[in-house]
Amino acid sequence: MSDKDQNLLRKKFDDAASDYDKNRKTIIPNFEVYYRTLIELTDLKIDNPRILDLGAGTGLLTYLLWKKHPQAQFQLVDMSQEMLNIAKNRFSGQKNFEYVNNDYLKYDFGGLFDIIVSSLSIHHLNHENIESLYQKVYDHLKPDGIFLNADQVIGPSPYSEDIYKENWLEVIDNACLQEDDKKIILERMEFDNPATLEDNIKWLKKAGFNDVDVYYKYYNFVVLYGRK
Ligand SMILES: C[S@@+](CC[C@H](N)C(=O)[O-])C[C@H]1O[C@@H](n2cnc3c(N)ncnc32)[C@H](O)[C@@H]1O
Repeated sequence: MSDKDQNLLRKKFDDAASDYDKNRKTIIPNFEVYYRTLIELTDLKIDNPRILDLGAGTGLLTYLLWKKHPQAQFQLVDMSQEMLNIAKNRFSGQKNFEYVNNDYLKYDFGGLFDIIVSSLSIHHLNHENIESLYQKVYDHLKPDGIFLNADQVIGPSPYSEDIYKENWLEVIDNACLQEDDKKIILERMEFDNPATLEDNIKWLKKAGFNDVDVYYKYYNFVVLYGRK
């Protein structure tokens, strides 16, 4: 993604931040199971893990992590200040939260983490940046630390990609959104640039991850796992 496109995407998230949460559960198929799958896999039996959420947005995923790990130290990174402001409100008064308004490709994560997560963010990147981000994530995990990425993939062929797209557009149609909301969501989808599942797995293994696996898959939505 060029710097210009990234600025446009940031603006789209800034502008949509106040309405972001209201439609997520209807436009992301099986939202509950999808996010819960990621959360279940964070069961590391560590009392107060250090957790980094890349592209944390308004904190929807972080909230579920916090319920499971109330003693954890959280760092939320997002390039959209408006999205992060909503996360700050959600967790106001909590001392174990740190917020970083930056591009996670450029920002130096600052130390090592037990768990690094991301949901529906990394698919916006250029593919070479996804590959280098996976290496950066690996380098910032403690031994046995885990990375979980709930994200979108593109179909392995144009034929399967058509099936993925048709399915998601049907989900969005059935969500009975207001016309304005639907327009915003469809416009933002133009910034999606997912890679195939196969490439994601290849880059995770190349970065050094063990036990690389796909714990959830529904058309274009996956939960990827890797352990250091
Ligand atoms: C679809 S939202 C997902 C938010 C949250 N993770 C969730 O599951 O609801 C994607 C978020 O990723 C952020 N984002 C995209 N690219 C980014 C980058 N390079 N650095 C930091 N944040 C980024 C956007 O600003 C946006 O808040």
